[in-house]
Amino acid sequence: MDSQVLNQLFRQLFRHPACQSLRPQSSSALRRSDCVRLACRDHRQCRTFLTRRGQTKRRGTDDSMMWHKRDDYPKDITEELKTYPLVTAKDLRHQRERPRQVKMLTREFIDDSLYNPNYGYFSKHATIFTPGEPFEFNKMEDGREFNQLLGDRYTEFEDRLDEIKPDIARQLWHTPTELFRPYYGEAIARYLISNYKLTLYPYHDLIIYEMGAGNGTMMLNVLDFIRDTDHEVYQRTKFKIIEISPSLADLQMKNLRDSVNAAGHMGHVEIINRSIFDWDTYVHSPCFFLALEVFDNFAHDAIRYDTKTEAPQQGGVLIDADGEFREWYSTQLDPVASRFLRVRQAAARRPFPTPLGSKMLRGLRNSLPFQNGYTLPEYIPTRLMQFFDILHAYFPAHRLITSDFSTLPDAVPGLNAPVVQTRYKRRTVPVSTPFVHQGYFDIFFPTDFNVIEDVYRAITGKLTRVLSHEEFMERWAYIEDTETRSGENPLLTWYKNASVLTTV
Ligand SMILES: C[S@@+](CC[C@H](N)C(=O)[O-])C[C@H]1O[C@@H](n2cnc3c(N)ncnc32)[C@H](O)[C@@H]1O
Repeated sequence: MDSQVLNQLFRQLFRHPACQSLRPQSSSALRRSDCVRLACRDHRQCRTFLTRRGQTKRRGTDDSMMWHKRDDYPKDITEELKTYPLVTAKDLRHQRERPRQVKMLTREFIDDSLYNPNYGYFSKHATIFTPGEPFEFNKMEDGREFNQLLGDRYTEFEDRLDEIKPDIARQLWHTPTELFRPYYGEAIARYLISNYKLTLYPYHDLIIYEMGAGNGTMMLNVLDFIRDTDHEVYQRTKFKIIEISPSLADLQMKNLRDSVNAAGHMGHVEIINRSIFDWDTYVHSPCFFLALEVFDNFAHDAIRYDTKTEAPQQGGVLIDADGEFREWYSTQLDPVASRFLRVRQAAARRPFPTPLGSKMLRGLRNSLPFQNGYTLPEYIPTRLMQFFDILHAYFPAHRLITSDFSTLPDAVPGLNAPVVQTRYKRRTVPVSTPFVHQGYFDIFFPTDFNVIEDVYRAITGKLTRVLSHEEFMERWAYIEDTETRSGENPLLTWYKNASVLTTV
């Protein structure tokens, strides 16, 4: 990472007096079972750094475009909004420099920021913690000791990386696959074998796709388990990874080669370095499709509503000649966002949350003389909807198994809003807007499982079940493996804010 740019960026961040709010250290600061992708002893929080959501003002470019006048930088962007081209992440794919003098929809900006092959967050900086040797939960006293041990292993892991290549801005996080290896993978493998044997065996092979496989640990744990428990099924198992990041795809292959069972597994594995959104191969065979902590990074669109008319407006960002970001909204929704709103409306089996609030609140608001013109934005999962389109079009006989965060603390303002954060000198730094220097910040969203379950059903025509992470693990894991001496079980008590959706 370019440390000069970073130092400058962070000097700015910490100079801003309102930004500094050091959270008190507590024994749960590292555990953070409510959001376990954050792992740091010192959690420095920063707000209102780059964008301040203040007064909004309507300016006339045409009737559909509005921009935010910021009190601290009241530059009129009417002319720029008219003349700058609207570009997509795809248009910028081959660009080496971050774009200037363009405007982008929110989802396209997020996509570019996370996945641009040259400067995107996932192109170089993503490192997923792995404990190396599995944790021995049965030898630990309680959850506190696990917390402590995890902190120590985290530090050792990063010290080792720094010995090879120091990096003050290493982006490091952990996932349940890694923390609870191999037990988490074994629970998934048990689910796969049972469902395969119940419905597909012996007429079909066991074909597993995993989208976004991180270090490749799930693949290794699943294959090890199947080989050890059911050799006949193992002979018929194919594990195919679809991975967007070239460096993670390389790491997955390296970890496969380095594993003790490499020789056996090699013939069962295929690693395809491609974004799922570029997928164009029809897979007619029945298959299981794993997506674990991948939905959270799928880009969303920002929609706000006129509180009087309740009409939606779609948000975007303009990047000016100096690289400054300005938010804008348009009354004209693009086809992807408007389709999502239509599908959600048609598919919803229960009321879904809206930033307009309840009917009663709306009535009350409309009777008040002074009111804000627009709601806070809601972030709608437009890329996720497009992923369901791909499943439906190319994997008609799939069965999805997906796990992700249902809620996230410390999100930016708005409904279903993302957490936007980076790591600097081993500290997590959250900021208050997604419109920040592309590639330096993780941007990840909660998943509203009620809404996406209905959208998935509507698009694929399949039936589903949603369980909490804990319920799924109680059904499919050997929970004795992860129990501490006090009876506390981190596999069940961590990830309280995660759910699992499966096709039934
Ligand atoms: C948070 S990591 C989770 C890794 C792993 N599933 C785990 O739980 O340890 C997200 C993974 O999804 C991959 N990914 C994100 N978007 C993707 C896309 N559009 N197509 C394929 N892989 C994607 C990332 O490169 C990364 O490997």
